[in-house]
Amino acid sequence: MSHGVKTLGVLGAGQMGGGIAQVAAVAGITVKVFDAFPGAAAKCAGVHKKSLGKFVEKAKISQADADAALARISYVDAVEKLTGCDWIVEAVVEDVKVKKDLFGKLAAMYPDEKVVLASNTSSISITDIATAAGAGAHRVIGMHFFNPVPLMQLVEVIPGLQTSPEVIDRTVALATAMGKTPLKAQDRAGFVSNRVLMPMINEAFYAWMEGVAEPEAIDGIMKLGCNFPMGPLVLADFIGLDTCVNIMNVLADGLNNDRYRACPLLKQLVTAGRLGVKSGRGVYAYPAK
Ligand SMILES: NC(=O)c1ccc[n+]([C@@H]2O[C@H](COP(=O)([O-])OP(=O)(O)OC[C@H]3O[C@@H](n4cnc5c(N)ncnc54)[C@H](O)[C@@H]3O)[C@@H](O)[C@H]2O)c1
Repeated sequence: MSHGVKTLGVLGAGQMGGGIAQVAAVAGITVKVFDAFPGAAAKCAGVHKKSLGKFVEKAKISQADADAALARISYVDAVEKLTGCDWIVEAVVEDVKVKKDLFGKLAAMYPDEKVVLASNTSSISITDIATAAGAGAHRVIGMHFFNPVPLMQLVEVIPGLQTSPEVIDRTVALATAMGKTPLKAQDRAGFVSNRVLMPMINEAFYAWMEGVAEPEAIDGIMKLGCNFPMGPLVLADFIGLDTCVNIMNVLADGLNNDRYRACPLLKQLVTAGRLGVKSGRGVYAYPAK
């Protein structure tokens, strides 16, 4: 099935929205990006230039193709100006109220049944977001890219309860055309990726808290013994310990099971402001360079 996308609208020019816009543009799709923060467009354009420059250096893409991809991306400063798109991917802040507000506006702006409204949320229920689209709920779907988007292979495809089979098939086709591997998961808290990953990270904090081993040993054992590219504790530092706690809360509440509650030591580190790489210290220290 063809995805039928000529112009992709991306909401949010942050880490994820910027990456999604770049990958779509490299795949030959025209991209319009909207971000509510005034400086976001310029920052995002700078990131694209740098990232595509690295792909050119590594001979993964020609300079001409990189230039053509950059020329396909434009920015608007209001959601009302995000017109003429035939597919939208939302990648704004992980806040259900903000997302539902935008999906309500988008459904009204795009009454055409063919326009798909996708969300890159990592934890919020797609079925819940879709309620904001009213009668358009069947064309709302989760399209969960991974960070950094230009490098990571997976798109987790998450249909909501009302998503139509046609929208699912077109999402799979679009992710494939963007050079990704789409894999489907049901709309349950954490989908598959965070449901499996986060409890493992949480367990690593329990192992540390109970003195089973020191962080370096926990990470080393999982790296060398399980062939992970990095250990669970250093990965938590990259994700952000506060984000880890938030996702555990989503799992515990969404799956109605206290076994997903965040480890007390993980919560304590967050209380102390040790949030990981972004705050300079989490499990490990990251001195400013
Ligand atoms: N960072 C990750 O590793 C990762 C991975 C997968 C999915 N996600 C999901 O992707 C989404 C974005 O995450 P991110 O890491 O790119 O965040 P980010 O903070 O880097 O970017 C979010 C952007 O959204 C903009 N924004 C906020 N409110 C807006 C609004 N009302 N309208 C338009 N723009 C608005 C902000 O200005 C910011 O530029 C979240 O839903 C997150 O859960 C993140």
